[in-house]
Amino acid sequence: MESYESKEIEVNEQFRLMSTEIISKTAFGSSYLEGKHIFQMLDKLTLFIVMSSRRSRIPGISKLFRTIEDIESDKIREALREIMLMVKKREANVNSGQTDSYGSDFLGSLLKAHHDVDERKRISVDHVIDECKTFYFGGHETTTNLLSWSVLLLAINTDWQEKSRKEVLELFGKEYPETDSILKLEIVGMVINESLRLYPPVVDINRRVTRTTRFGELTVPAGVELDIPPLSVHHSFEIWGDDARLFKPDRFADGVAKATKEPLMAFLPFSFGLRKCPGSSFAIMQVKIALSMILQRYKFTLSPNYSHFPIVILSHCKIISYKMAAPCTKLLRGSGEGRTTRVYCT
Ligand code: HEM
Repeated sequence: MESYESKEIEVNEQFRLMSTEIISKTAFGSSYLEGKHIFQMLDKLTLFIVMSSRRSRIPGISKLFRTIEDIESDKIREALREIMLMVKKREANVNSGQTDSYGSDFLGSLLKAHHDVDERKRISVDHVIDECKTFYFGGHETTTNLLSWSVLLLAINTDWQEKSRKEVLELFGKEYPETDSILKLEIVGMVINESLRLYPPVVDINRRVTRTTRFGELTVPAGVELDIPPLSVHHSFEIWGDDARLFKPDRFADGVAKATKEPLMAFLPFSFGLRKCPGSSFAIMQVKIALSMILQRYKFTLSPNYSHFPIVILSHCKIISYKMAAPCTKLLRGSGEGRTTRVYCT
């Protein structure tokens, strides 16, 4: 009889480390180790922001007495100007003729804009730093949560796990997933869409109405702030039918537009319009590659210790980690190649 070795792994933490590494390499390329340090500071800053947002404050007094988190946050904001060191290094290389480009990574593109010959198109250094922060915040926690929920859903729905694995093995065998073939992953794509529908990583989208606007029978005056909740829209029986709360990836078999009776804005994990997520294709590609590589190597199931109580919170702060929006996935029980792996989630 074949023997299987199992191991428990906290998958959410593993996916977080992976996404941080990927976003750091994409943003800072060869300078990614320096970038990683910057991102660690950003994580700390997020922790302080979350802690601060949960503390009651007396108006006025809080301006006089600053908390340790306020002081630490200021120090981190200042230290984040470390990005400037990377900027200066690249500028020096271009100025000395050592290279003729600021780099092909995200920081390189921002620096190109910073030095644009057209003064009106130039962006400031503060803008460069802010864009790096947005890129990190926008791109790593979201992808981590999408991957975690997808693995959790596949761990529960082993029939879909098998279907997905079959598709992956037919396309790639045991080889590294090729970029062109990634686009052909239909079943995995349906699973990802269903995961984004049931557990959208961004649960709240805000828009301010700039001029009086009509939405059907509703007239909204200028200045009103609208809260668009993808979570409620995605779970609406009216839009998605009686099985709205069930995991049924095949509802996406004929594409997103045909998944509902009322297709307009029914599926909005990446938002809509001018400010929609610019990283959506990148995120889907990343998740498809990661899922394919896991499915090629492991079988997994849910930990019996898992308790399902997802709530919404900004980040993965350790202090309040037991209350995360993420599935709090813990523990892959599993193996090396070809053996059985069980995803245990607590
Ligand atoms: C599953 C993964 C992701 C989800 C669900 C997601 C979702 C979203 C949503 C809903 C918005 C719009 C927010 C709003 O309108 O208020 C947004 C914006 C943004 N996302 Fe993503 N995102 C993901 C991955 C990424 C990645 C990987 C990157 C970068 C590589 C990224 C970069 C950004 C940026 C820079 C913005 C701000 C765009 C702007 O304000 O114009 N996102 N994302």
